Amino acid sequence: MPASAGFQVNVWPGAVCLAKERNNMSDHAIHRLYRHFQELPISMRVLFTGTLLVLGLGYMFAMLYVFAAHSGADGKPGLSVDDIKITYSGSPGTTQLESALKGPMSSMLPERDLVAILTWIHNGADKKTFTSGIEPIIADNCLTCHDGSNPHLANLDGFENIQTVVAIDTGADLFSLVRVSHIHLFGLTFIFFIMAFIFSHSYVRPVWLKAIIIATPFFAVMSDVIGWYVTKVFTPFAWVVLIAGALNGLSFAIMWVISMYQMWFYRVPEHVRGRHGGGDPDKI
Ligand code: HEC
Repeated sequence: MPASAGFQVNVWPGAVCLAKERNNMSDHAIHRLYRHFQELPISMRVLFTGTLLVLGLGYMFAMLYVFAAHSGADGKPGLSVDDIKITYSGSPGTTQLESALKGPMSSMLPERDLVAILTWIHNGADKKTFTSGIEPIIADNCLTCHDGSNPHLANLDGFENIQTVVAIDTGADLFSLVRVSHIHLFGLTFIFFIMAFIFSHSYVRPVWLKAIIIATPFFAVMSDVIGWYVTKVFTPFAWVVLIAGALNGLSFAIMWVISMYQMWFYRVPEHVRGRHGGGDPDKI
């Protein structure tokens, strides 16, 4: 008798609560495996919070890098579609050296030397001027990294080696795109998996909206990477790269803010809170 009484007391309030939930037409039934942040042990919430803080900082640095590396490609400040077109498909009439000097390498040397190199390129990049005026600038500012010891960086040591970067710019070469693609695809999958796993513990209705927020970055990451290759041959696709990047950032921000807020400040609606019979789920 005492055992069956205990059984009844535990089951019935929950059942009543489920019935109430079904009557609430604006809502879906809550999945039996769903746990809100506030139903998780404090240790897990601390783990999630630490992860969110570091991921958020990482994302800010990633955006700074993208901005610094690409925004100057068209010679104008700010990140634009033209910057993306030039990065991936090159710019007819310019050389790889010029694009690099106007973009990611612009901070590597004093303005005066920059102008000297650009003037030299525009005047036909001849050997005589190189030896007398350009070679010392390169030696002082560039060879620490571009001395040929790193196989992934252009070797700028000497006139012969420079020839490859003063040829007309055809944009990012396929090999480096493939290299960046696999890093990008693996890296971002990790980041967005962790992010969306944390976010899945938030209470967002309708459920399809929550699912879309989770799915968006995965499609955006794929469109972004595929977009790089397509932009190489068909420049209007730079828009896809730009929009995909923006969608990634947007879904990251939405998931971050909602998760952090609901983890510590939010009051879970009664019918979610009460679906375990009104008690603390840990204690049932
Ligand atoms: C601190 C190290 C460093 C210095 C100094 C440096 N670069 Fe670079 N450079 C890099 C890196 C790293 C990349 C690849 C950038 C990327 O892919 O975003 C690069 C890319 C380039 C490229 C594009 C081709 C390639 O190898 O990917 C050119 C051209 C270039 N640099 C020229 C220069 C010139 C000219 C100078 C001197 C004024 C210079 N760099 C100084 C590190 C350096």
